Amino acid sequence: MSLLRVPDRSRPRRLRLPAVLATGVLVAAGLAVDAGAAASGAPAGVESAGDRFTERPGRGAPYKNPRLSTERRVADLLSRMTLEEKVGQMAQAERADVSADPGQIADLFLGSVLSGGGSVPADNTPEGWADMVDAFQEQALSTRLGIPLLYGVDAVHGHANLNGATVFPHNIGLGATRDPRLVERIGAITAEETRASGPQWNFSPCLCVARDDRWGRTYESFGESPVLAARMGTIIDGLQGSRRGDLDDPEHVLATAKHFAGDGLTTFGTGEGDYTIDQGITEASRRDFARLALSPYVPAIKHHDVGSVMPSFSSVDWTDDGLGNPLKMHAHDELINGWLKDKMDFDGFVISDWRAIHQIPGDYATQVAVSVNAGVDMFMEPFSGDTVGYPQFIETLVQLVEDGTVPEERIDDAVSRILTAKFELGLFEDPFTDRRHIDEIGSPEHRRVAREAVAKSQVLLRNEDRTLPLSSSDDVYVAGSNADNIGNQAGGWTLTWQGGSTNVIPGDTVLDAIEDAAHGDVTFSADASAPVPAGAHGVVVVGETPYAEGFGDVGGPRWGWDPGDGGVLRPEKTMLLSEADTAAVETVCAAAASCTVLVVSGRPMIIPPELLEQTDALVASWLPGSEGGGVADVLFGKRPFTGRLPVTWPRSVEQEPINIGDADYDPLYPYGWGLRTGHRGHHR
Ligand code: GLC
Repeated sequence: MSLLRVPDRSRPRRLRLPAVLATGVLVAAGLAVDAGAAASGAPAGVESAGDRFTERPGRGAPYKNPRLSTERRVADLLSRMTLEEKVGQMAQAERADVSADPGQIADLFLGSVLSGGGSVPADNTPEGWADMVDAFQEQALSTRLGIPLLYGVDAVHGHANLNGATVFPHNIGLGATRDPRLVERIGAITAEETRASGPQWNFSPCLCVARDDRWGRTYESFGESPVLAARMGTIIDGLQGSRRGDLDDPEHVLATAKHFAGDGLTTFGTGEGDYTIDQGITEASRRDFARLALSPYVPAIKHHDVGSVMPSFSSVDWTDDGLGNPLKMHAHDELINGWLKDKMDFDGFVISDWRAIHQIPGDYATQVAVSVNAGVDMFMEPFSGDTVGYPQFIETLVQLVEDGTVPEERIDDAVSRILTAKFELGLFEDPFTDRRHIDEIGSPEHRRVAREAVAKSQVLLRNEDRTLPLSSSDDVYVAGSNADNIGNQAGGWTLTWQGGSTNVIPGDTVLDAIEDAAHGDVTFSADASAPVPAGAHGVVVVGETPYAEGFGDVGGPRWGWDPGDGGVLRPEKTMLLSEADTAAVETVCAAAASCTVLVVSGRPMIIPPELLEQTDALVASWLPGSEGGGVADVLFGKRPFTGRLPVTWPRSVEQEPINIGDADYDPLYPYGWGLRTGHRGHHR
């Protein structure tokens, strides 16, 4: 028997009015029907059983009393919930899908809605976002029990889906700063800008440990060292506040440690679908897995008290047991129930990744049952209609509980965890967006912090004859594909999921910043076709075009999935400089008084020896985001270079994976490398 009955959406809508109105209307109509009965679907006119499962609780219900403990409130609310109301809390829909029919939020008792990367309201402003989230919240509050909605986004380098938000360097640049306190401040600003525009939940930080830079998500990692990733877990304190008790502040959001676990350890060539490494298989001993993949989660849970965890798409194949038995993390009872919830005593909730359970072997009922029983609590099943998603998830899970495949105790545990987060966030008292900080989104103060982070993230790899810092009185010749492209310097997860070379956000490109900092003449010629003025110092900004997830895998899919570009061919990712950038470097370095190359990319790029020899200075700039000024600050000595490599810089792609501690470790620049320069005034 198929469990996948597509819900009959033709049925008459339940009466969904704001709670206070609903009760009034029914009493005024003289109906003997209890409001709760109508809201719970009982036929109109039928005397409700008046029990906890049908009544619309009054204001005196314990769960509505903020003076009671969260545990007490959760227990009371749970005791009032029908199975459908419980399972609805475990379902997360996507903004675009549910926007087509927002009434689904109330009809299905949905617990959460998300914006996938680039899924933004038509009015992509802070007010537009807040109005959107609040409209969804109205729907959730109109249900019998009035359980508020959680709204989640990927504010992975600031709330960069929102046009005008402060866009910080991606995590690989933050790893280069080696500054946990700064990263905490970045978390705090990100939280404030996110919450002030509506979303109360951020699917961040990625605690991934990128071991093979051919992985398209390398830039979402703080680096190749699990110790470094653990140290940067301070971002969670910035996001949530110093403890979960601060979550009800309008400056804080629920954080998500992801992707649990081993997402950055997968073997090249084992990628899922047409990805070459992303969502692949992590082949490791339990001991190595604990050291490399699990260790960053220990402080995230024990010290930073992270409120949610997202499993990885990837699989784990224990070498201890002999390879050949990869198990999807979303089905991994030993690691989710066993290690995360039992051994680590994690008391938050586990949110699945985007349709990730569909990668588990078996039919949909099997996928749901296996993942729920493995310990996943909420399911990112974004779609409805013809694509299996949240409506089918709810139907299927209700059926699985009714037939005993999934114990109701498991549902109660999952729902208790989800409700606990909602109480901690203060959503029962203040469900709507607190807009007191809305004008601080993208503020000069926030951008100053981002600029500081950009400067501290710059890693000086080579500096022959103390070429850097330049003098502000120098004439400068700027070239390269990434000199004047804010979309490229922001990278993925910016306005759109994949990011884009034509994406424009408020901020400064590297060229803008050089023009602001230099008092000499500045010439710009992206392809270096313009003559290099005598005595001018060359700055060539090379690097990558934006990508996200597996679309950044080396040798990965060449088709970008993006509603904007309709899947046009995208430049294949190779870790090699483009021919145009290589030519620009050769041209400028042959003619300029000095020649500095900046690499704006999500990972190391290959600089062949013969090209390297032509350069005087080489800088890893990573993906700086909106504040290109931070690059000029170190280029011209306003700040010293202090950044250090968070990942090993290979001589060739063939060296990948290459990490500190490897035998025969012979990179171009080792993990931790970074030259320093003096402070201001240190000129040649
Ligand atoms: C994506 C990513 C995950 C993100 C989620 C929601 O597939 O794997 O990091 O949080 O979907 O956008």
